[in-house]
Amino acid sequence: MTSAAQPGYDALAELYDETFPTAYGSAWERHAVAAFADEVHALGTGGTVLDVGCGTGHVTADLAGFGLTVIGIDPSREMVRIARGHHPDLRFVVDDAHLNSAELTDVTITAILARFSLIHVPPDEVSVILREWATRMAPGSMISVATQSTDNDDVAEFDHVVARAWRWPADRLSEALADAGFDEVWRIVSRPDDQHRFPAVVVTARRAHWG
Ligand SMILES: C[S@@+](CC[C@H](N)C(=O)[O-])C[C@H]1O[C@@H](n2cnc3c(N)ncnc32)[C@H](O)[C@@H]1O
Repeated sequence: MTSAAQPGYDALAELYDETFPTAYGSAWERHAVAAFADEVHALGTGGTVLDVGCGTGHVTADLAGFGLTVIGIDPSREMVRIARGHHPDLRFVVDDAHLNSAELTDVTITAILARFSLIHVPPDEVSVILREWATRMAPGSMISVATQSTDNDDVAEFDHVVARAWRWPADRLSEALADAGFDEVWRIVSRPDDQHRFPAVVVTARRAHWG
């Protein structure tokens, strides 16, 4: 499968970069990434962390700063161009969440972080992608997925300014991970505030010893 085109992000990449000079809108988001990085370290297995939908690469750089080997992946060539400009020492690959790039074939994936990127994937396809990831990850390896959320029971499309997007109830995200073979370890659910119209959720999970 070829990379999903991201014309919206390509067109708005420079504006996105100016608007979001750091990755984190809140302290809890930064702490969530730090906690995930600590847990990946604790695995002690080496390998590579993939930052799927890395955007302009700020979180990729943070993961590297925590001492992890990391590759940033994004389907938007413009976002990757900017990420490479900010972080020329880091590795970035143009690809979508299916991870079909030949550059990733031989990578041993010890963990995957997907912050606010799977929101742009239709919900049915998210389930497919999570299963694909599970087949490429050893039992015990880690995954962390962040999305905009909702207090209702159903996944809901919302009016994202750049591309089609869906927000996930925390339980639905956890169930999708479990169905693919990832058991929830912890979650954070934030409340809307002046800067954020919706709740947001991070679910961090571990590849189960089955499937
Ligand atoms: C809101 S930005 C988040 C960037 C970064 N993860 C962060 O936390 O700052 C969403 C990113 O997801 C990427 N994206 C869109 N569709 C994707 C897909 N199918 N697979 C992987 N990434 C995708 C976009 O190109 C964009 O860079």
